[in-house]
Amino acid sequence: MAAEINKHYLELKESYLFSEIARRIREWQAENPDRAGELIRMGIGDVTRPLPGAVVDAMIHAASEMGRAESFRGYGPEQGYDFLREKIRGYYEGFGVSLKEQEIFISDGAKSDLGNILDIMGEKSRVLVTDPVYPVYVDTNVMAGHSIRYALSGEENDFLPMPREDYAADLIYLCSPNNPTGAVYDRAQLSAWVDFARERGSIILFDSAYECFVTGDLPHSVYEIEGAKEAAIEFCSFSKKAGFTGTRCGYTVVPEELKRDNVMLNRLWLRRQTTKFNGVCYIVQRGAEAVFSEEGKKQIEENISYYRENARIITETLDRLGIYYTGGKNSPYVWMKAPFGLSSWDFFDRLLNECRVVGTPGEGFGKSGEGYFRLTAFSTKENTKEAMRRMETLFR
Ligand code: MLT
Repeated sequence: MAAEINKHYLELKESYLFSEIARRIREWQAENPDRAGELIRMGIGDVTRPLPGAVVDAMIHAASEMGRAESFRGYGPEQGYDFLREKIRGYYEGFGVSLKEQEIFISDGAKSDLGNILDIMGEKSRVLVTDPVYPVYVDTNVMAGHSIRYALSGEENDFLPMPREDYAADLIYLCSPNNPTGAVYDRAQLSAWVDFARERGSIILFDSAYECFVTGDLPHSVYEIEGAKEAAIEFCSFSKKAGFTGTRCGYTVVPEELKRDNVMLNRLWLRRQTTKFNGVCYIVQRGAEAVFSEEGKKQIEENISYYRENARIITETLDRLGIYYTGGKNSPYVWMKAPFGLSSWDFFDRLLNECRVVGTPGEGFGKSGEGYFRLTAFSTKENTKEAMRRMETLFR
């Protein structure tokens, strides 16, 4: 008798969006070896600023601790060290959100836990995702054999879909500031989603990976909304906030108030983590702790301002060219309409071939993304300026 495979994997697209883009870039580089060095990458949201000095110092110190018998540490707590959870708890206090340490689980990044969380959800969950959407929400649910419904968005709702009777689902994925559109829910809009979920017993899986880009009175966390602790799990990351894309650290918040069938999801998640996860590396957690030090906060704010300035350079160019866009104000992503009536992939090819600039075709994020294109502000300032200069030449 042969082992069975999970046949749901066969229902997935051939490759993950960013792997497909990387494949196309490799192909282009092979065909254009003399121009390969001119390529400017504004596709995948990977940061370019190095880790802040305070983080590096903390990591070096932690590494040296690991090299001495008296301060060496082996397995750590699966849910993360108290020193880091306490800092995250304090960070939420700053938004007026009071969390308990045991509600915070340190992870190796938001992406992993956004997929892993399905381990504690029902086998036949009905799932609602917004479209365009971060492909991880869709692909992980296809893998799990769940049924997926799409809340379409577009210019008519500023790419911020709102609840509708027929959107009832067990799990509702929301991302704000949104990846890929950069659009941000305000308090009233987020309250409408929280009320919708509470009335129906749905659980919101809230991705706040880009919250550090939020300015003004927009919510950073879903828990700033009344009643959200009974209806939402939040996923966040140090990747974009502090340059941890390669170092890997994030956190997931599962409030004790969140219960279904009289069971606390917090307990299930703890059980899952203690069984399947051995925690994030001590050195990395010490680095993440330094993100909240006075020095760390200052350095991180400098990096975020740097990316904000890049976003401003992009949006200023689009304003000048009269091109529709969302994002770029409270987000590192700028979601622009593909010019000349081009499809997303045709604009991708044109930008790559004629400008040597890589972005992400909107269609890769779902059918409502067709005709749109995502640029990231995570490049260097010089490259952002140069990319915009080259893009403008298409309009002459
Ligand atoms: C993106 O480009 O959408 C992100 O970098 C993906 C991620 O954070 O996993």
